[in-house]
Amino acid sequence: MFQHHQIHTRPLLVGAIVTLCLMNPLTLSAHGKATGIVKERMDMMKTMDRQMRSIMAMMKGKSSFNTEKISAYAKSIRVASPKLPALFPEGSLHKPTEALPLIWEEWTQFSALTEKMEKEATALQVLAVQDDRAKVSLQFARLEKTCSGCHSDFRKED
Ligand code: HEC
Repeated sequence: MFQHHQIHTRPLLVGAIVTLCLMNPLTLSAHGKATGIVKERMDMMKTMDRQMRSIMAMMKGKSSFNTEKISAYAKSIRVASPKLPALFPEGSLHKPTEALPLIWEEWTQFSALTEKMEKEATALQVLAVQDDRAKVSLQFARLEKTCSGCHSDFRKED
């Protein structure tokens, strides 16, 4: 049964893997100098990134598929979502930020994306424990889309 699902969901997973925001080591070291609110939000983003990568590793069969862990990571991302807007006070663009000024010009859209992320993470949290691998990978891809969607509009490209 799992075998069937794996085959079925492969194209979708590949999409998710390709778009997952990759951080190169160079950026990482530059970001070591971040301070204040910029550091806070980078740290929160990095935590979410680690959680998304852990889920992805399970999807790819690199670590054992653990529905409880997926659910817990999704919950943690859900809980982080409503905290994001406060980490982007207007004009907080000090180095080495990659945030774009467009965030405050299109604040409604930006904060709506954090709500969308919360919604998709909630759905993943719930779905994960129902143990339907195909649905879980679909929902994971949806959640990942909210990450990459926001980055493509509101974050400088590396
Ligand atoms: C509402 C918009 C938005 C959403 C949603 C979002 N991000 Fe981000 N993310 C940003 C912005 C803006 C930055 C740049 C912050 C800065 O450099 O000050 C960023 C930065 C990052 C970084 C780089 C952190 C660093 O140290 O420079 C990672 C990694 C990241 N996000 C991962 C994620 C993941 C994973 C998700 C989804 C679970 C996600 N983000 C969802 C807007 C978003």
